[in-house]
Amino acid sequence: MNDLNNDVEKGEMMKLKHIYEPGENVNKPVFLLLHGTGGTEEDLLPLAEKMDPQAGVLSVRGNVLENGMPRFFKRLSEGVFDEEDLIKRTEELNEFLDGASNEYGFDRNHVIAIGYSNGANIAASLLFHYQDALHGAVLHHPMVPRRNIQLPDLTGKQVFIGAGLSDPLCPVEESEALEQLLTEAGATVTTKWLQQGHQLTMDELHASHLWYEQLN
Ligand code: MLT
Repeated sequence: MNDLNNDVEKGEMMKLKHIYEPGENVNKPVFLLLHGTGGTEEDLLPLAEKMDPQAGVLSVRGNVLENGMPRFFKRLSEGVFDEEDLIKRTEELNEFLDGASNEYGFDRNHVIAIGYSNGANIAASLLFHYQDALHGAVLHHPMVPRRNIQLPDLTGKQVFIGAGLSDPLCPVEESEALEQLLTEAGATVTTKWLQQGHQLTMDELHASHLWYEQLN
């Protein structure tokens, strides 16, 4: 790698505030942690530690502010996304992952996203737009990021969806539609339905741990 490329990559990387912790075991994935609206890069660190203490962690803070609350892309109103911004921020996050993998030396092909709510939505958007952005994803209460687009071939991608049967932000049909779109694109999707709303519960985390264990 020449100096010029390195500078460009560093420049890209520094765009997004983040925490990186290398894994103890290089064969383990790096978890890309993506918080919900109003969260920070600290929020999901305990989840990653519980999921696999030997994995690496790259936890990012969304760089869009909505009334002072960090998010990963703009929205026009609750549940209505600013598509143009979503596309731009998804590209930015994908480039950030490329740069971070070069800078920190982790395997770019072994990144598993763990996202909650707005963070799950941008993780789903990575899957919708880029074939090789993620190895897999844990999506806690996601929505369909975009409709009427051709998804890349997602054969071999493993996705966990945690969905609440009474989630006011993600109605049952929304989670079912996401599951269907990802499955049709070739991903292997496991959906855990829970008797709850939009909150993240221990039952849901337990289900995602069981899903993760059967990957290895
Ligand atoms: C979003 O905007 O991504 C969803 O409405 C979830 C959230 O409230 O962040």
